[in-house]
Amino acid sequence: MSELVYINGEIIPMADARIGVEDRGYQFADGVYEVFRLYNGRPFTFKEHLDRLERSAAGIKLALPTPRTELEAGLLKLVDRSGVREGMIYLQATRGVAPRNHVFPESPSGTVVAYCRPLPPIPNPGEGEGAKLMAVPDERWKRCWIKSIALLANVLAKNEAVSQGYDEAVFVENGVVTECSASNVFAIINGKIVTHPVGSKVLPGITREVLFQCAAELKIEVDERTLMESEAVRAQELFITSTTREISWVARWNEKYIGQGRCGPLTAKLHRAIQQRVRQETNG
Ligand code: PDD
Repeated sequence: MSELVYINGEIIPMADARIGVEDRGYQFADGVYEVFRLYNGRPFTFKEHLDRLERSAAGIKLALPTPRTELEAGLLKLVDRSGVREGMIYLQATRGVAPRNHVFPESPSGTVVAYCRPLPPIPNPGEGEGAKLMAVPDERWKRCWIKSIALLANVLAKNEAVSQGYDEAVFVENGVVTECSASNVFAIINGKIVTHPVGSKVLPGITREVLFQCAAELKIEVDERTLMESEAVRAQELFITSTTREISWVARWNEKYIGQGRCGPLTAKLHRAIQQRVRQETNG
């Protein structure tokens, strides 16, 4: 079966989908996106992702062209028809096609596109190879709380890291650690989770939010504050989170090995708690 795509309310084969040359997403990166994880054919934290999509859209003054209930139903239908059980939904909403002009069109058409993709299984908590992070300067804009499709700075950072044998780029500005090119980053310092607050330089990650809920249940304190690179490299444990990876423990920061060269106990504990939440929400 050929891959399916949801496009402005219709579900059609991806090969038949057409986006206008003057779509503002293509010309100006004038749009926002979401990545939802599918477990057992069900989107995890569906509501939270849709809420963030609405916040991101409002952040760029974009009125989503599809009412929320209709979008929800369309996405669930897409998941069902695409047959993907373990994977993700990628969704992007742009201001649509209009004659090229920096000024917003008076009546934007809007384009909403979504499709599902299978993903490989995530390593069990504490297992798998640790991620290697490369520190890079933060050259992104100051509205990183918006999940914007304008990701060139992230793309360049990630490629710089990967080309040098690392897995992820971690942004550092004046010694301050913000987040990674496609994930949030956390340090365990004196038994507490330390991470930069969300806002101009950090996306409010949905996995980050679930992590905080799990931490509260496990009575692990969270300290949202400025995290310096000098502290991060000396942390007992370091990990990164995202919808597609859940939690990955960090093995290296540039040349420096973190912790004991294996996943730390709190990281594994938090990962098990997140997986428990996933099972509660998406099983049977
Ligand atoms: N990225 N920070 C950035 C810059 C991200 O791109 C992401 C996710 C996160 C983690 O957010 P969440 O837990 O909601 O996935 C943090 C997605 C997965 C991507 O671009 O593919």
